[in-house]
Amino acid sequence: MVRGFEYKRGQLHCEDLPLAEVAGRVGTPCYLYSASAIVGNYEAYAQACARVPVSVHYSLKANSSLGVLGLLARRGAGFDIVSGGELFRVLQAGGDPERIVFSGVGKTSDEIDYALGAGIALFNCESDAEVELVNRRACKRRLRAPIALRVNPDVSVETHPFIATGLREHKFGIDIVEAEELYCRAARMEGLVVKGVSCHIGSQIFDIQAFVEALRKILALVERLHGRGISIRHLDLGGGLGVGYRREDASPTIDDYMQALSRELAGRGLHLMVEPGRSIVAQAGVLLATVLYRKRSGAKEFVILDAAMNDLIRPALYESYHDIIAVKPNQGPPVKADIVGPVCETGDFFARDREITPVAPGDLVAVCTVGAYGFVLSSNYNSRPRAAEVLVDGAGFTVIRDRETYADLIRGERTV
Ligand code: LLP
Repeated sequence: MVRGFEYKRGQLHCEDLPLAEVAGRVGTPCYLYSASAIVGNYEAYAQACARVPVSVHYSLKANSSLGVLGLLARRGAGFDIVSGGELFRVLQAGGDPERIVFSGVGKTSDEIDYALGAGIALFNCESDAEVELVNRRACKRRLRAPIALRVNPDVSVETHPFIATGLREHKFGIDIVEAEELYCRAARMEGLVVKGVSCHIGSQIFDIQAFVEALRKILALVERLHGRGISIRHLDLGGGLGVGYRREDASPTIDDYMQALSRELAGRGLHLMVEPGRSIVAQAGVLLATVLYRKRSGAKEFVILDAAMNDLIRPALYESYHDIIAVKPNQGPPVKADIVGPVCETGDFFARDREITPVAPGDLVAVCTVGAYGFVLSSNYNSRPRAAEVLVDGAGFTVIRDRETYADLIRGERTV
């Protein structure tokens, strides 16, 4: 059981709150997050190393609900955004614009203007053309935009191919060798201030050495730039630290990771920035669902939930594993079943041939480790209203997002 969730008196609790109580009051499907687990993970990053100045820019793409952002903003977190919409969310949640870094390969002029107006900390630029565009937009406003180049350090990592980003063949970043010339050009542009180097090698990475290898390549680039009169202060190492999805997974801790980075940086006078998403919120969230039916088809057994792939697409998209546990486990021998949703797609499954404690219609189950890339990737497929979200704090909770209604489903639509 991860921090924030445990069985007490035979039923699953989030902090001091029985999950069954939330289901009774809010209904299912429902995303439920532990505030103390989120804050604990954030603090683990923020307080990890005294030796090197660090700033933590929580990556919104993992979970951008206002309630979660507000929790982090109040603790002084910075944010990593990839769109104008994410900038809007941070500002709505009370985040400090001066602690925002803007990543992404396809920033539009409007998004750049919005970020310049808000006064963000850093544009992580990913191409020559983007550098030129940011320069033009900044000149127009008589501003100097703070930039870093996102370099591609060509480090290979073991993760799902859809979420590896640090190789030359990926669309992300600028080749680390070619970056040098672009830095020299950018340093001469009137609308820019060159501040840093950034990179992000992928997501769900367990091998700390891969991050260290990327960092060393970046440090070598910083030295070369120094030799050409360009001084770099900020190193943004992106996100990517993996989390355990299976109970038996031994993942590196946030502390191990930060210590490894700070060892490389000690005494260099550089400011380390990180953009963690998953490792802050993944384990802090579950998707609470009700068993609708049990069904047998030939030798196969199915457990049909009221949650579906529109609520959580990770199993269908990445064949990802998520523990699924009963909120009030029944006695009896475990069953082996496919655990699926009501959507009309064969890909609508949470688990296949999974052994779980026996469950009956009406029972509640929790799909675990879905605080990251869960709700944010949800959709209205099959015209299913999106789930409610709840933030638990001690024995109390707040509904941080109402369950959508049928009226929400057609907002902005019209017949002709
Ligand atoms: N910074 C940049 C530039 C990124 O592209 C990402 C994630 C992060 C930070 C945060 O990485 P994290 O700490 O969460 O690993 N939907 C996939 C994950 C996609 C990650 C995309 N980029 C999933 O569900 O596994």
